[in-house]
Amino acid sequence: MAGRLTGKTAIVVGAGSSGPGWGNGKAAAVLFAREGASVVCVDRVAAAAIETAETISDEGHQALAIEADVSRLDDMARTAAAARDWTGRIDILHYNVGILDVGGPAETTVESFQHVIDVNLTGLLRACQAVLPTMRAQRRGAIAAVASIAGIRYTGVPYASYSASKAAVIQFIRTLAVEHAPHGIRANSILPGLMNTPMIVEPLKKHYGPDTGAMLAERDAQCPMGHMGDAWDVAYAALYLVSDEAKYVTGADLLVDGGITAKFA
Ligand SMILES: NC(=O)c1ccc[n+]([C@@H]2O[C@H](COP(=O)([O-])OP(=O)(O)OC[C@H]3O[C@@H](n4cnc5c(N)ncnc54)[C@H](O)[C@@H]3O)[C@@H](O)[C@H]2O)c1
Repeated sequence: MAGRLTGKTAIVVGAGSSGPGWGNGKAAAVLFAREGASVVCVDRVAAAAIETAETISDEGHQALAIEADVSRLDDMARTAAAARDWTGRIDILHYNVGILDVGGPAETTVESFQHVIDVNLTGLLRACQAVLPTMRAQRRGAIAAVASIAGIRYTGVPYASYSASKAAVIQFIRTLAVEHAPHGIRANSILPGLMNTPMIVEPLKKHYGPDTGAMLAERDAQCPMGHMGDAWDVAYAALYLVSDEAKYVTGADLLVDGGITAKFA
């Protein structure tokens, strides 16, 4: 089935990839475009936004690259305005930005904690505030936020700020979903488990050590299927949640974790 997002305008925040290969945001942006959406590719790193947008245009689909930082409300407002100028509407917000800093509650600095919360959680607030007036005027919209199983379980890695931010993302989305259901706006969280995407490699060396191969093998071994998931697993979940197929799904937390949460239930 193709064309699941035909005629829709999607903003993907964190649409680049922090390393070679496919990150969750890049895969979602490309998949949304393949399904017919006009995709606004937003990233703090201009080159990353442009790379994703060019991948989409090279495949013959519609994309607009925007350099913007979720730490700035005016950047999010400028992004929403650019989307409206481009197509006249905003149907989808996919919030993929997430950073992590290894450190348990005793070790993490207040500055690091606040920075992670600001990007992962307050950035989501800023992005939602930028798009909600348009979605409310349209009486239609779908928001998906990439949270993590770290928001509901201890994953074995001490990252207090990351876990706290993701738990808050899940509850923020539930609250938004209930309050905006009468306005025709849905909101859901995606909870990836252990995924093999470029974002894990550098930050997690602080926990696993410098040997990337050993890190990946250890993470694979933790998963019930014997391997981590990939960016496309998260992207297809996002596609479902922002499409009309999920028209009665809101306030949900969708696990995309290969069963690892059930293993530790
Ligand atoms: N890989 C995993 O194991 C895993 C597991 C659970 C959840 N997640 C979540 O998946 C999401 C990220 O996945 P990814 O693979 O696309 O990561 P990624 O780091 O490859 O891509 C995210 C993009 O966000 C951009 N970004 C970072 N800070 C930003 C800011 N302040 N403003 C705008 N853009 C910014 C980065 O430049 C990057 O291009 C995060 O929310 C993460 O918490 C990942």
